[in-house]
Amino acid sequence: MSSNTAAKRRAAFRAVKHIENGMIIGIGSGSTALQAIKMIGELLDSGELYDIMGVPTSTQTMFESIKVKIPLTTLDEHPQLDLGIDGADQIDSKLNAIKGGGGALFKEKIVAAACKEYILIADNTKIADTLGLDQALPVEIHPFALTPAMKAIEKLGSKATLRMTGGKLGPLVTDNGNYLIDADFGPIADPWWLEQQLHSIPGVIETGLFLGYANLAYIGGKGSVKRLKPSIDTVLKKNR
Ligand code: 5RP
Repeated sequence: MSSNTAAKRRAAFRAVKHIENGMIIGIGSGSTALQAIKMIGELLDSGELYDIMGVPTSTQTMFESIKVKIPLTTLDEHPQLDLGIDGADQIDSKLNAIKGGGGALFKEKIVAAACKEYILIADNTKIADTLGLDQALPVEIHPFALTPAMKAIEKLGSKATLRMTGGKLGPLVTDNGNYLIDADFGPIADPWWLEQQLHSIPGVIETGLFLGYANLAYIGGKGSVKRLKPSIDTVLKKNR
């Protein structure tokens, strides 16, 4: 196992400890979330964990959850979730994050918003002083709006690239039938302002800015895990 995977596992392990019997959980997407899924499967298998259900945030997560026999449910049956665990592409000290590297940001954000407690898990390469530093921001766009929306996103100060897919020719199509733009803004001085601006563009379905959702993060490193809480001004902004 690579040291990076071991770091992801360490972070996932700490987050999975928050799951209690009877909980309805949001299940994130990506390679770090996958470590959590595997651990949940093992705990269910051993009987240590029982009576839980999960809402998956992507088709991949749905398949992986089914593989390890996590009972699945929907937000229609359970509009409020006890706990969500998800990875991130970049996390700042306020626990604001950029997500969507795996293209699952739309459902991931809906699930994040539905969680009473939301924990980010990542290895320590994901920590940044400022969001956007060497990290493009994924934005999900309705196909009909592609070119005008892309131009509008560039007008906000980014270099926007349509994400292409491997395995077939053409653009990547998300689980929701949309396109993804990776918008490189450089360091994002005011992510809350940018989030508002992006949402005012017709055709923008969702952005990878996850602001004020996480109340805890576990960051795996070499043989250790850092436990981070958001700073107070993030909590105040969330409640505004
Ligand atoms: C998918 C995501 C992932 O959580 C994010 O890309 C992190 O992935 P990984 O754990 O593989 O680094 O947002 O849309």
